[in-house]
Amino acid sequence: MPNLAWLKKEFNYGYDSGDILSLIPNARRLQEEMVIGGSYNQVFFGAVLPYIKPNSVVLELGSGKGSWSRAILKYIPYGELHAVDFQDVDKWLKPDLYQGRLLPHQVNDNSFSCLSDNYFDFFWSFGVLCHNNIEQIMEILKNSIFKMKSGSFAVHQYGDWGKLDNYGWEKGNIPLEFKNQPDDKIWWPRNNQNLMLSAAVQTGWKVICPDLGLTQRDSIIVLKCP
Ligand SMILES: C[S@@+](CC[C@H](N)C(=O)[O-])C[C@H]1O[C@@H](n2cnc3c(N)ncnc32)[C@H](O)[C@@H]1O
Repeated sequence: MPNLAWLKKEFNYGYDSGDILSLIPNARRLQEEMVIGGSYNQVFFGAVLPYIKPNSVVLELGSGKGSWSRAILKYIPYGELHAVDFQDVDKWLKPDLYQGRLLPHQVNDNSFSCLSDNYFDFFWSFGVLCHNNIEQIMEILKNSIFKMKSGSFAVHQYGDWGKLDNYGWEKGNIPLEFKNQPDDKIWWPRNNQNLMLSAAVQTGWKVICPDLGLTQRDSIIVLKCP
């Protein structure tokens, strides 16, 4: 199921995670935080803010309706955010409001060919790699590294079946029957810290931390571009 055609179609309604920065989550965010076992506010301050500066040039994969994009833009008043998605996100992100600081890119594949090489200070994704199988993740990591400046960081949330076993599939809102189904039939393909670590190393990234421990169901990896 998580082939590119499925991913392009599945999220065309515009996935929304609510207001990441508000101290009190709205109903939408609260519902997601309960299944993931963590606070998006704390994820932002633990996984995004330490890696950006007011003038950072940021790459976000899979912005959807822009919950994380808006939070990032608030903290890069002199920087740029390039939001790459299969969807046409202009209508949700409203780049006109950001005086050229927000540049959406609708893409068709994982090549990142629309972006300049050696350009970005930080690469972020949330709710994206968990829907891509490990081959697609490798493609994303392999092609994106050329777009990053040397010494820059990438932080990605990803599905972790090891953590899911401990946390509980039902509590995490992932169907238990996925365990007996191949990756091409499910929307939460197999991944874990070993697979992710190996994918990152094989594609040239240095792994700083396989999981920041900010959410109980999923992992969040920190990578550095050599
Ligand atoms: C579940 S939504 C998450 C949206 C947002 N990041 C959030 O957390 O609220 C996943 C988004 O990533 C996009 N997406 C998934 N895989 C992608 C890929 N390989 N390349 C580009 N966009 C992708 C989907 O189109 C969708 O908009």
